Amino acid sequence: MKALAVHNLKGGVGKSAAAVNLAYLAAANDVPTLLWDLDPQGAASWYFRVQPEDLKTKSVLSGQTPVGRLVKPSPYRNLDLIPADFTYRYLDIMLKKVEPPRETVSRLLKPFSEQYALAVLDCPPSLSHLADNVFNAVDMILVPVVPTFLSLRALEQVQDYLRAEKLDPKKARPFYSMVDRRRSLHRELTEHRPPAMQRGFQASIPYSSMVERMGQHRAPMAAYAPSDDPALLAYAELWLEIKAALKL
Ligand SMILES: Nc1ncnc2c1ncn2[C@@H]1O[C@H](COP(=O)(O)OP(=O)(O)OP(=O)(O)O)[C@@H](O)[C@H]1O
Ligand SMILES: [Mg+2]
Repeated sequence: MKALAVHNLKGGVGKSAAAVNLAYLAAANDVPTLLWDLDPQGAASWYFRVQPEDLKTKSVLSGQTPVGRLVKPSPYRNLDLIPADFTYRYLDIMLKKVEPPRETVSRLLKPFSEQYALAVLDCPPSLSHLADNVFNAVDMILVPVVPTFLSLRALEQVQDYLRAEKLDPKKARPFYSMVDRRRSLHRELTEHRPPAMQRGFQASIPYSSMVERMGQHRAPMAAYAPSDDPALLAYAELWLEIKAALKL
């Protein structure tokens, strides 16, 4: 099983939208997929209309309760979810108490390797103990970057953090998100990619009201958008690049 985290230190850059659409596209592409919503905001869980199990997160982290009991089916073939519950706001503190440090998410993902080919982890916007655990566990950290200087700075902070924590900086793979080609800065930064974007994917997701409508339909875009919608096509292109990079 390959594991893909969708992460950025910056909030509101399209992490959950990417996690939901990519997990859907992977599953539709015959890759059995588990989407783990790690953000107490629970956006990914909400889009899929999935409620969490009433279980003590603490007992799952310590291994007393099997992590498999958290899994819920999604309305889609090949796609299951671990929904977020509100206790995830304490996830960081809870993880800190489990030894060895950084290993918990890795250990919790192991039992799923028989059943799924891909785990997608939708992360909250922070560089925390949870992020350490996630970065250590996954094969790739997918970083959505809005073409602005602040968003690029957040990407550089993630890359620096990986180096400082002796984690593999090559795991971080950015892509441009919410690209508005009417804006000259967006055009400049997508046409002349700055060094931080060099290991980035070519596909970029346009700014699109069709993506925003995921909240209206509470579904991945492919469930309601026309098949030639530019944002949907961009997610499909991004999925193919990720699939090749992860050798799925
Ligand atoms: N390509 C896009 N075009 C237009 N709106 C978008 C796009 N991607 C995401 N959005 C909207 O922007 C908002 C933030 O998106 P999303 O929740 O995916 O970001 P996030 O990085 O997961 O945020 P957070 O850091 O809060 O978890 C949402 O309202 C979403 O509908
Ligand atoms: Mg999110």
